[in-house]
Amino acid sequence: MQFHWLATSMSSVKMGDSSSRQQGWGRISAMVLQTRRRLKWASYLCSTVLALQYLMQSAEAEPVLGTSLFRQCRPVALANNKTEDCCLPEPEREPIMFKFPEVKKMLVRRPAHELANDVEYVNKYNLAYKRMKELPRDDPRSFLRQWHVHCAFCVEAFLSRYLNGTPTPYSLQLHYSWTFLPWHRMMLYYHERILGSLINDPEFTLPFWNWDNQLDAGAAQMPQMFVPYNPPNPAIENFYLYEGAIRDQNHYPPRVMTLNFKPAEDKAGIIPTPEEIRDANLCMVWNMVVNKVSAEEYLGVKYNTSADLSAAGNANASAESGGSEILHNTAHEWVGNLNNPAFPDNEDMGVFTYSGRDPLFYSHHGNVDRLWDVWQTLPDGVTVDGTRTRKEFDDVDFLETEFTFFDENKDMVRMKVKDTLSNAKLGIMYQDMSEADSLWINHKPKASKPSFRASEQTQMSSTPDDYPEVVANANNTIGSTPVCFKLHRRAPTKADLKGTQVKHIGELSEGVVMEKVKIPEMMYVRFDVYVDFPSANLDSDMDQSDYVGTFTHLPSGVASMESVTSQIPVANENLYRELNVRFTTGLALRRLGIEDYSTDITVTIVPRFRDHDANRTITFSNLKQEFL
Ligand code: C2O
Repeated sequence: MQFHWLATSMSSVKMGDSSSRQQGWGRISAMVLQTRRRLKWASYLCSTVLALQYLMQSAEAEPVLGTSLFRQCRPVALANNKTEDCCLPEPEREPIMFKFPEVKKMLVRRPAHELANDVEYVNKYNLAYKRMKELPRDDPRSFLRQWHVHCAFCVEAFLSRYLNGTPTPYSLQLHYSWTFLPWHRMMLYYHERILGSLINDPEFTLPFWNWDNQLDAGAAQMPQMFVPYNPPNPAIENFYLYEGAIRDQNHYPPRVMTLNFKPAEDKAGIIPTPEEIRDANLCMVWNMVVNKVSAEEYLGVKYNTSADLSAAGNANASAESGGSEILHNTAHEWVGNLNNPAFPDNEDMGVFTYSGRDPLFYSHHGNVDRLWDVWQTLPDGVTVDGTRTRKEFDDVDFLETEFTFFDENKDMVRMKVKDTLSNAKLGIMYQDMSEADSLWINHKPKASKPSFRASEQTQMSSTPDDYPEVVANANNTIGSTPVCFKLHRRAPTKADLKGTQVKHIGELSEGVVMEKVKIPEMMYVRFDVYVDFPSANLDSDMDQSDYVGTFTHLPSGVASMESVTSQIPVANENLYRELNVRFTTGLALRRLGIEDYSTDITVTIVPRFRDHDANRTITFSNLKQEFL
């Protein structure tokens, strides 16, 4: 249509003044001028059409609006019939719209391991938390309320978002979807500004816990400034950085965080060697960041506004965390004190409900946020074509999603996802860690052992046909021992491009999706997945090419659907959350020598449940190949 308009208007325009004797350059320049005018019109038209398209999309769009939600909030239920009222206080003034700060100078967030001995910094940071913790309960800037912000949005305290002025019956949850990274970026932005304002330092920045860093000493340990100094440093005061935080003290320095954490071994005092830890950590960060080339795979899928994401177990909910969130869960678990009988309520970072009550949480999220920046800059390196650019969603539902936060002036601010997509615009940058980053960016797993395909040429012990296929829409179970399934594969077609960010088949990312994994809300769940390695088990090495990723689920407090009507929160062990779980397989399969899409493979799921969950099972409805 646009082209038609252009074509007709061009032909009806007289090309220059025919009565004049204008020839040569004069005539050409007049033509150029007119062509320019026409192009200008064309570009106006194009932008109008685009704007109209955007508006039309907006009319149908259903972004999540966290506006005015503070009036639609209930206490969240915790285990053991306890509740916590995480609802935000009413703002004193009308909520304001977010405005980008005037950036005179970029604020640089620095790594916690480098700041540990910066006496001035740690003392200042400690003082900021002291003041924050001293603020009264009704002050939205108080530490308690800062914790509550996370608690409220992550444990579904808000009944719903508004839709055309009416609250929808589905509670608000910011994890398990594309809102995960943007929301936490907003949270850090305001948390940092509040801390800075409490010590009158507009240039204050949060430290980040650089746990992916396997290069610099101490980087992947729990940062020293968050634990009592050992040996004590009389010049440094850091009491408020650990006071009241419940953590696994066996994981204090010099222990290095193990993303490949095996609780049973840990309990038995078996500590992997530094090389094992390093390799597993690099491998897992590579898998969860570099290998996730699409927005869905890294940020998580579109927020499902027409289903209940809460633990009430709506059968149609399809939520899916991205690699960023799954990777970040492991650090939560490492810090937390899960299942320590001395702390039966798990009031620690291992449970979402309580996470914000530990100052280390904000530093941990600093690194999660930093990795998002790094992810944006990574070359493809994963798809067959290798030419895909990593970019966020351009869906209106994503960009217009809105949440509310309290700022340093106690104003409630409405901020949208589109405001979060560039740290630079927020005036924030991270210290360059590219040397350490390059270790996982360029990490290559070891060749797999034993090689399943290699044995095909010699005596084949088994083939994918020896394993059952998952029965769709049935309860396929995972218990405490590994299970192996045959997966039927096919080549991608043009139809697979629909709804993706790419136009070429060779830029699609091949993956395996477990659908509707039904997870008990209060259960810590972890499983590792291997392709073409049927005998993978608890002892299998993560750092080998047939490992395709890990899934982790952190427990949280529970708000059941009953409470939507009754307003009485019910903690219930039998509530579930349903998630789809995706593993990216394309490059792993090519590394295993499986170039052909028609080759069927095996998928082995290795559960790593906690001791006391040994008899539990979780179910999923399907296992299938999918392209993104
Ligand atoms: Cu909202 Cu690290 O969690």
